Amino acid sequence: MIVTSNIQIQKTTRSRVHEVDFSKLEFGKLSTDHMFIAEYRNGEWQDARIVPFSNLSLSPFALGLHYGQTIFEGMKAFRMADGQISIFRPEKNFERFNLSARRMCMAEVPKDLFIDALHQFVALEHEWVPKAEGSSLYLRPFMFATEARLGVKAADEYYFMIVASPVGPYYSQPVKVKVETEYVRAAEGGTGHAKCGGNYGASLYPAMLAKKAGFDQVLWTDAKTHTHIEESGTMNVMFRFGDVVVTPTLSSSILDGVTRDSILTLAEDMGFGVEERDVTVAELEQRLQNGSCKEAFGAGTAAVIAPIESINIQGESYRLNIQPDALMFQLKKRLNDIRLGYTEDVYGWNYIVQP
Ligand code: COI
Repeated sequence: MIVTSNIQIQKTTRSRVHEVDFSKLEFGKLSTDHMFIAEYRNGEWQDARIVPFSNLSLSPFALGLHYGQTIFEGMKAFRMADGQISIFRPEKNFERFNLSARRMCMAEVPKDLFIDALHQFVALEHEWVPKAEGSSLYLRPFMFATEARLGVKAADEYYFMIVASPVGPYYSQPVKVKVETEYVRAAEGGTGHAKCGGNYGASLYPAMLAKKAGFDQVLWTDAKTHTHIEESGTMNVMFRFGDVVVTPTLSSSILDGVTRDSILTLAEDMGFGVEERDVTVAELEQRLQNGSCKEAFGAGTAAVIAPIESINIQGESYRLNIQPDALMFQLKKRLNDIRLGYTEDVYGWNYIVQP
């Protein structure tokens, strides 16, 4: 065992990294060799350790299995052009992780623990960070309630863990979406802005119905009136109206995406107009009809930028012509150039990991 800043490291005796075909990565299928765990008990985080990836042993009474106290983050580590490894904007994910923890009445994780755990973990798994452009090591910090009780309560015990998976693109093709006007992902005052498991669980049934009807994803609308666009299945949504990048304003029912924030910053600095505002279904439909909606795309950690090729509104499908020089691709290229070190990172977004 090596002890590094209170994180004990137990290395596997048999790495699987050389058995992996990095040219055929299916999103989230493979785990790396190790996992990080820290336990929250008696009001403090303890036993922080990196150990070989394995199943867990939990009480069937663990509160997280029953009442949904489970949150997560999605982040990526990249192999830069000069061979260094960087984690993209870990502080932003750290802040959102604790925002989710507060909303779900869970223990918060100290910043040093979150960042140090990521750093040590990625350093140890450095061989798992893919070299091909478009690939990365997807990092999944998550936390869930482990206290063994059946009464409904905020737990006093938690696991904070990090696992990782080498990944290629989440969507390999442009996506077809359907504006959802029956089911709801999140309501104002609910947990939509928190990255908690329940939001994703609630989305599965409508997503399954949409898939059966020939769509890849739904475009969520507000819970009360279904007249305002919110976000897409696993991503925030953005439009190009004329020459302006438009995305719905954040609210308690929309996730504050790190890719969303990065794309808005880049768009502004590249001289495009940017508007965070209400987007009604009626406006979107009118712009799809008169051609002023030039592009639509999802923005998320897993998906990066996912071009939307068609939007269905109340049974009517509108196609979008995806051009190779589209603004979304310019934004994606700028983002990738920063992540890979081809363009100077003036924003301080890359957190360099020393192996
Ligand atoms: C991410 O982009 O990291 C997400 O949270 C989507 C994920 C659920 C696949």
